[in-house]
Amino acid sequence: MNIANNWKDYEILDMANGEKLERWKNIILIRPDPQIIWKDKSFPEKWKKANAVYKRSKSGGGGWDYKTKLPQSWQIKYNDLTFNIKPMGFKHTGLFPEQAVNWDWMINKIRNSKREIKVLNLFAYTGGATVACLSAGASVCHVDSSKGMVSWAKENVIASKLQNKPVRYIVDDVIKFVNREIRRGNKYDAIIMDPPSYGRGSSRRSMAI
Ligand SMILES: C[S@@+](CC[C@H](N)C(=O)[O-])C[C@H]1O[C@@H](n2cnc3c(N)ncnc32)[C@H](O)[C@@H]1O
Repeated sequence: MNIANNWKDYEILDMANGEKLERWKNIILIRPDPQIIWKDKSFPEKWKKANAVYKRSKSGGGGWDYKTKLPQSWQIKYNDLTFNIKPMGFKHTGLFPEQAVNWDWMINKIRNSKREIKVLNLFAYTGGATVACLSAGASVCHVDSSKGMVSWAKENVIASKLQNKPVRYIVDDVIKFVNREIRRGNKYDAIIMDPPSYGRGSSRRSMAI
């Protein structure tokens, strides 16, 4: 397993009782994480500094319990990449920091190829991988079925000052879009896929690849 240990603006401060205590720049959040099966906190004092806690409700949903007033969004940096963080439903913040090892891997592959690279980013969410690949010099086609997520990805591209790089945003179901690209004969050098455990697209057809 590769560990994302190049972060400065993000840090896991402690973990216990199915919860993770994380620092996102200067804001501290507590979020549920079922993988944290041990009970004892290593730093009980640090938990008192949390700005917000995501609490699961018994009915399956949940919500943020704000301990202090928080901005609606704030920025964190990973090297030259800048991301807008927002506490959202389903405990999301708009970024999976552990993906940074994959961003580093993609950046190295693209830079070392010494040629033009065309990337297709499927289930592209808020554009972590899109921003990383653009920063390395690739062109990116960013596909997600959620209009809101695609807008957020655009914000992250702008925040990272990459808006003049070759990026195409597509709000569509991945299966529909990929089938269209196959019919059009469009090819890519690299395809990134990080699908969720359940989809939000409309198509039930299988992918013809
Ligand atoms: C788990 S997130 C991907 C995380 C992302 N790769 C990252 O590292 O930041 C899943 C994304 O897939 C999108 N999605 C789900 N089903 C989809 C579908 N059928 N077609 C297109 N996008 C879909 C959701 O809107 C969501 O943004």
